[in-house]
Amino acid sequence: MILKINPGNKLIGEVSLPGDKSISIRFALFALLAQGESRAKNFLTSGITKTILKALSDIEIEWQLENDNLLVVGKGIDGIHAPRKPIYCGNSATALRLLAGVFAAAGIQAILDGSPSLRQRPMQRIIEPLQALGVEINLSKDGLLPIFLVARQPRKYLNSTDIRLEVASAQVKTCVLIASLACSGEVTIQEPSQSRDHSERMLKQMGVIINRINDDNYSSIRINPIGKTPLTPLVINIPGDFSAAAFFIVAGLITPESKILIRNVGLNPTRIGLLSALREMGAKISVINYNEQATEPFGDLLVFFSQLHGINISGNRVVQMIDEFPIIGIAAAYAKGITTVVEAEELRYKESDRISVLCKTLRELGVQVQEKRDGFTINGNGKLKGGITIDPEVDHRNAMAFAIAGLAAESPIEIKNPEIIDESFPDFLLTLKSLGADIVLCN
Ligand code: S3P
Repeated sequence: MILKINPGNKLIGEVSLPGDKSISIRFALFALLAQGESRAKNFLTSGITKTILKALSDIEIEWQLENDNLLVVGKGIDGIHAPRKPIYCGNSATALRLLAGVFAAAGIQAILDGSPSLRQRPMQRIIEPLQALGVEINLSKDGLLPIFLVARQPRKYLNSTDIRLEVASAQVKTCVLIASLACSGEVTIQEPSQSRDHSERMLKQMGVIINRINDDNYSSIRINPIGKTPLTPLVINIPGDFSAAAFFIVAGLITPESKILIRNVGLNPTRIGLLSALREMGAKISVINYNEQATEPFGDLLVFFSQLHGINISGNRVVQMIDEFPIIGIAAAYAKGITTVVEAEELRYKESDRISVLCKTLRELGVQVQEKRDGFTINGNGKLKGGITIDPEVDHRNAMAFAIAGLAAESPIEIKNPEIIDESFPDFLLTLKSLGADIVLCN
């Protein structure tokens, strides 16, 4: 299929979002570690989470999904069954890296695999720390999928060893956190800067002791193992996904005369680097009905069309907006002046090489772009040519970002394989249409 975006219509109205992807994946996998029934409202139902629910069935974990309410019946870490066949994680590195932590903690044999795209993504980053904790892992190819976790003797705990991560990554940190539950003593995890902390918040709710520790050069946390103590089941209300909101925020900012209210958005401080970056670019965005009583803060966002200008993005802010680079690239193209992104090489290891795809596509759209190993420079002049067909590769966030780019372009933009959007946001096109966008799906 091809998605065609006809520019010109202003966007007016209200948006409600799917549940946060990171929190939904964590809920499903942490719930199976607990003893008893965990319940989540506003669970994300999409390609990625369907793959995870299938994985739960593969290890005989009972679950029920009604509308967006998910019930998972956990049997505790010691009650997890070894899968009889390889667990397939589709395109989701988060699912795979977290599941590796689950099987490591349980000490059972498992094979983890994924799509051709996931098979190209680096796994050494979980293999090394898991091996340091004493997990035996076999590989068919250096640092790539599939990976084989070898069973451990019953009642043998993993080593209590401190782990220093080379890159700030919530996926790797969470893999280590889960494995650490089965260690013989506490584990300190250091990362170069603080990645999203949903796991820490959720594990604390389940009774795990995790503390931030003072460390000048690293973002460090210490986790206590749980021994034979069962984990408390979770009852949570999953906020809307900030990374899904990001597309509508930028849509409102770049499309003249737009005004969009986005309801119930997760506003965890470790996730919202895009908000501060866009405000620095001159974006008119207000947060209303802010609520920080729940485990995860949330609120509504009101966005108005704004004249944007270029900025510099680096360091910790990169980590706090790691999923938002395809879409901030679009905002930078519509801004006036130069936007520079550095220290962002991680973008090359996502569902696609996001630096390369973004730079190539913006150039085809008539924007002056300079690509670097760890980032890019975009010289925006407030407009995009349009008139091309874009291949987002196997990357849902590229597809959504380029669809948004088309809303204010000088002529229509077409996107190949828009089905990939279902990975994280099946109602994306319907929601965009409800705001007034002129978009058409054709065969
Ligand atoms: C995620 C962490 C990020 C992000 C991914 C989801 C998570 O990856 O890009 O979409 O849920 O932990 P890294 O932490 O590896 O950068």
